[in-house]
Amino acid sequence: MRADDLAALREETAAQLAAAADLRAWDAVRVGVLGRGGRLTALLKALGALPPEARRERGAALNRLKAELEAAIEARRAELEAAALEARLAAERLDVTLPPRPHPPLGAEAGAIHPISRTMEELVAIFGAMGFRVAEGPDIESDWHNFGALNIPEHHPARQDHDTFYLPPGPDGRRPVLRTHTSPVQIRTMLTQPPPIRVIVPGRTWRADHDATHSPMFHQVEGLVIDRAITLGHLKGCLIDFLRAFFGIADLPVRFRASYFPFTEPSMEVDIGWNRRTGELGKGGDWLEILGSGMVHPRVLANCGLDPREWQGFAFGMGVERITMLKHGMADLRPFYESDVRWLRHYGADPLSPPSLAEGV
Ligand code: PHE
Repeated sequence: MRADDLAALREETAAQLAAAADLRAWDAVRVGVLGRGGRLTALLKALGALPPEARRERGAALNRLKAELEAAIEARRAELEAAALEARLAAERLDVTLPPRPHPPLGAEAGAIHPISRTMEELVAIFGAMGFRVAEGPDIESDWHNFGALNIPEHHPARQDHDTFYLPPGPDGRRPVLRTHTSPVQIRTMLTQPPPIRVIVPGRTWRADHDATHSPMFHQVEGLVIDRAITLGHLKGCLIDFLRAFFGIADLPVRFRASYFPFTEPSMEVDIGWNRRTGELGKGGDWLEILGSGMVHPRVLANCGLDPREWQGFAFGMGVERITMLKHGMADLRPFYESDVRWLRHYGADPLSPPSLAEGV
């Protein structure tokens, strides 16, 4: 066989490859050239019959051709595969241009303030009128701000009560926490502003707890008052006024019951009167726990660099979802976070009429 045979094989293979429209046709070309009964394979087999001198020359030419054909075949495979992918992408293409459902005409759907935001606005309005300012702190707290500085030592059982979400330890080896209450902002406030202090702290809080009345993320509002001559009388007057304004019941019964928090001394749970059977607030002879409070513990003051002989004050904290549910007669906490438009429309507040004390919040 002569060199022209090889040139013919090269040209014919190139033409066949170009004509192969899909991978199946391509494979037939490949087998026809390189397969066991393929044309190139036959030429290689025939080498053995040649005298040694001719065999060397012919063998070298055949090997060059083989490499060339292999490369051409492989290149065509890549081409056909890319084309197949393109075709598939085109066939499976998703039309995302479907027009949206018609939106109600502008103005018909003004939107509403979420009940949690609304309650926080109401608290800001009520306490704002008493001279409080709003303070804030981070959701991710140091162990010291959330527990240590609040007189909750390392192995105190209150740490377990809080079902804390811990984060991986920082450079100091301590694990940061998702704050379990808004009380760490008491610490941050006392450390950054000189007394007298009068702040409320609306914010998110976190505990690993989930059922009809508990959510792993919920909201609290904290209060802190620090001054030179603050007594339990101030605490009681402030909270009674607040509760009557918030629930809109001028003679709402309020009860202070001895309790325990590590960061207040004495500590008090605050209850309001209601009817357990009907859920009606203000009368009925039963008591319902609403918030925790107390006189700021001298050790907490000292942890923040305040001399307890000169400064004293009170603090309180309450769950925003809880007081919202009570005020509006809601039985379940979960809809607060489900974004069900019907629920939001029903319980949401008018954005054009923010809470004001003049109208009753
Ligand atoms: N931090 C307390 C809690 O989450 C509430 C509280 C705040 C009690 C301030 C007393 C004073 O239960």
